Amino acid sequence: MELTKLHIVNYKNYGEVHCDFHRHFNLITGLNGKGKTNLIDAIYYLGLTRSYFNHSDTHNFKHDTDFMRIAGNFVSGKKKVSIAAKIKKKSPKVFEKNKKKYEKLADHIGLIPTVMIAPKDQQLIYEGSEERRRFIDSTISQLDSTYLQHLIEYNYVLRQRNQLLKDYGKNRSLDLSLLDIYDKSLVEHGNYIHAKRTEMILEMTPVFHEMYSKISGNSEVCDIQYKSKLTDQPFAELLLESREKDKILQRTSTGVHKDDIKFFNEENMIRYVGSQGQQKSFILALKLSQYEILHLRQNEKPIILLDDIFDKLDGNRVMHLISLLKDIDIGQVFITDTELNRLRLIFEELKYDFSLFEVKDDNVHIISLKDKEE
Ligand SMILES: Nc1ncnc2c1ncn2[C@@H]1O[C@H](COP(=O)(O)OP(=O)(O)OP(=O)(O)O)[C@@H](O)[C@H]1O
Ligand SMILES: [Mg+2]
Repeated sequence: MELTKLHIVNYKNYGEVHCDFHRHFNLITGLNGKGKTNLIDAIYYLGLTRSYFNHSDTHNFKHDTDFMRIAGNFVSGKKKVSIAAKIKKKSPKVFEKNKKKYEKLADHIGLIPTVMIAPKDQQLIYEGSEERRRFIDSTISQLDSTYLQHLIEYNYVLRQRNQLLKDYGKNRSLDLSLLDIYDKSLVEHGNYIHAKRTEMILEMTPVFHEMYSKISGNSEVCDIQYKSKLTDQPFAELLLESREKDKILQRTSTGVHKDDIKFFNEENMIRYVGSQGQQKSFILALKLSQYEILHLRQNEKPIILLDDIFDKLDGNRVMHLISLLKDIDIGQVFITDTELNRLRLIFEELKYDFSLFEVKDDNVHIISLKDKEE
């Protein structure tokens, strides 16, 4: 999948911007705070119907504006598709494909496979399990729209069940038949989610091993492992067993919303033992496995957004990573860096085609287009 044209109106620091992109490597440079990350986040938005950084749109509208628009022209082989996101404050988000409005946003997920790699990904290692579930969910959702539907419904029922438990806390009366209905529904959606997460981690593990050894160049064993209570016991039983506890806690204490993915380095949790370099390699391997799986399953190369790559790696490692990207037959890539010449030199040395952009004065200027075919 390849983005040829992007048009942004009122997204974060941008007023109005038009860009034409290179089919392989797009290098985005500019000083701190100029809008490099915002530019690639707008691309992510078109793929996944939301920002990678802000889960709510409140902070995405350019200050003092109340609508925003992001539109892109994409090409995949001979197919062309235009996608537009039109968002007004306090109104439902509208997404259009070839000018036709989607009935549900979820129907769009998967059409433009996208993988973002950003400094924020360190949170996958350090933060709570929610970040890790989001990672696995965003991988599966891009492949399986039924999964996303189950996830949405699971979360909806979970909120209702929690509300029922809260109400019980206040007035001490509990509608058991309603609780049974919620439990049945949670089990239906939860079992699907659990099965798909199990499958995905199984599929991802060997790809991850290969990526990790390519990135780090050594043989230490890193691993990912899916942890879910549903693996050891039927979900219906778990819910029943924890009912009394849930009534005291006034929330649902068991289910796939408690799942986690554990990251290991030689049998120890990487969070505690991994050096910074190992942790960075781990995250890169994880994200590139996501890329590989989306690619293999959909027969479509996802767009890769690499934010602040030098925050992750030194010059030699960046060079190593970029040749690795080329090795794994990457499609279109967007890379941000603060220094104009640092990336340019690497790409010139590797003799790869690219376009170089500079973000300045809330606009994006093309500086050079280096293409062998020109
Ligand atoms: N909703 C908004 N309206 C206007 N400006 C915004 C909005 N949200 C963010 N900004 C501005 O966008 C800029 C940050 O942009 P971005 O994070 O893309 O910078 P960057 O070029 O990636 O910087 P760095 O090199 O530090 O990563 C900041 O100046 C911030 O004030
Ligand atoms: Mg940035």
